[in-house]
Amino acid sequence: MNYINMTYDEACHYAPTEEPARQYFFMEYCKALIGKQKEMSGKDSFTFHIATFGCQMNSRDSEKLQGILEAIGFVETDSEEADFVLYNTCTVRENANQRVYGRLGFLNSLKKKNPNMMISLCGCMMQEEEVVAKIRKSYRFVDIIFGTHNIFKLAELMAERLDKKKMVVDIWNGTDRIVEDLPTDRKYSFKSGVNIMFGCNNFCSYCIVPYVRGRERSRSPKDIVEEIKKLSQDGVIEIMLLGQNVNSYGKNLDEPVSFADLLTQVDQIEGLERIRFMTSHPKDLSDELIEAMKNSKKVCRHLHLPLQSGSSRILKAMNRSYTKEQYLELVEKIRTAMPDISLTTDIIVGFPGETEEDFLETMDVVKKVRFDSAFTFIYSKRTGTPAAKMESQIPEEVIKDRFDRLLTEVQKISSEVCGRDEHTEQKVLVEEVNDHGEGLLTGRLSNNTTVHFKGDPSLIGKIVNVYLEESKGFYYMGTLRP
Ligand code: 5AD
Ligand code: SF4
Repeated sequence: MNYINMTYDEACHYAPTEEPARQYFFMEYCKALIGKQKEMSGKDSFTFHIATFGCQMNSRDSEKLQGILEAIGFVETDSEEADFVLYNTCTVRENANQRVYGRLGFLNSLKKKNPNMMISLCGCMMQEEEVVAKIRKSYRFVDIIFGTHNIFKLAELMAERLDKKKMVVDIWNGTDRIVEDLPTDRKYSFKSGVNIMFGCNNFCSYCIVPYVRGRERSRSPKDIVEEIKKLSQDGVIEIMLLGQNVNSYGKNLDEPVSFADLLTQVDQIEGLERIRFMTSHPKDLSDELIEAMKNSKKVCRHLHLPLQSGSSRILKAMNRSYTKEQYLELVEKIRTAMPDISLTTDIIVGFPGETEEDFLETMDVVKKVRFDSAFTFIYSKRTGTPAAKMESQIPEEVIKDRFDRLLTEVQKISSEVCGRDEHTEQKVLVEEVNDHGEGLLTGRLSNNTTVHFKGDPSLIGKIVNVYLEESKGFYYMGTLRP
């Protein structure tokens, strides 16, 4: 088909209506138009750069977006001085939004030097109406804006932009669609994230995710298992099953399946060596899942179990559906089943109405559980969430003081517990060359701790035995064993 002289409206007429065929059509269309621009500019290649903010879901989405851009003919570059720059944004906390606005000014200066440059924004932040209104008004140089529900449409949106030469905005409020089988390009050849569900139904009162990622939708176990089998045939030995709340996986499928069942199915896939998953909501973590983890040789000995607060009163206001005591009991149950498991968590400081007593309850849980590590966050008021309207927002200096005390405690405990495997030999997945030390490689234990050791880069992507010589608090120095 001769795409070059075809307008976008004509292309829409010829394009298949079903997915993913429609997107493959638009990838070809964009490829032809970009090829023409490239020829006229005299460049050997057109480059793209994706900056990913936020969580693992966004990282996985970026791999899909990268796959589409490569299919169109773009070549990846580390620099933002590229022909296509895409920001995959996060809006969980306000400061992430400010960073994006800050960087857009710089992108505009680059665009003035490169007339072919396109700037695109997607991800959670774009699902907020005020954000899109602000970009339309004050950042008119942005070319393409899309949201979390239609990332599969990048090629079609680019096609429209290339022909019509004006800002293209396409944000969906929600979707029940999951488009399978688009190209992806993985960051690592030997490990990959795999989406098992999208969205969240929990409505924790501080959290914007249910509003920007929509209601829970689970992929079918068949599609998930097939994707992992293909990945495994392609050399992937570690997968991370991804969802905002993996423990409620499968509840809304026509034939409901539990997360524990899915894990058992994935466990049987040949060639796969390690299975990770995140994130688990404490309220939904079943005995069946603990049993499935315990019985599996592949499921890694690590569980990320967000606490958010140790005060039952605050947990209630957060709409978390568990108490301090229930959380502690759950930890006990997990540790009894798997004594060597590493537990990590997320904690928010300064939720509206948090008193010193509430904060001390959080400190108490931290001291009792002794997490391997904890991500600590200062409460960020997100417009549209119930907590934003709550009275008694906490003054900044009080939050700062509590945050510092929490961080000190978390780090002290972390440095004590992370070294518990010192002087043992462990299986390590070699991930990369360590830039800081001559001849050093970096790998990960099953419990997610990193270890640096001398070795040949050809070991990257392999599981090797490493003796953990010395704990450095958050990581080990080790020696390769035969
Ligand atoms: N303020 C601060 N932290 C938040 N998180 C989610 N929403 C907010 C907010 N409004 C944190 C939670 C969650 C992690 C991904 O981000 O701890 O587990
Ligand atoms: Fe947000 Fe709560 Fe859903 Fe996690 S479980 S994404 S914190 S609403």
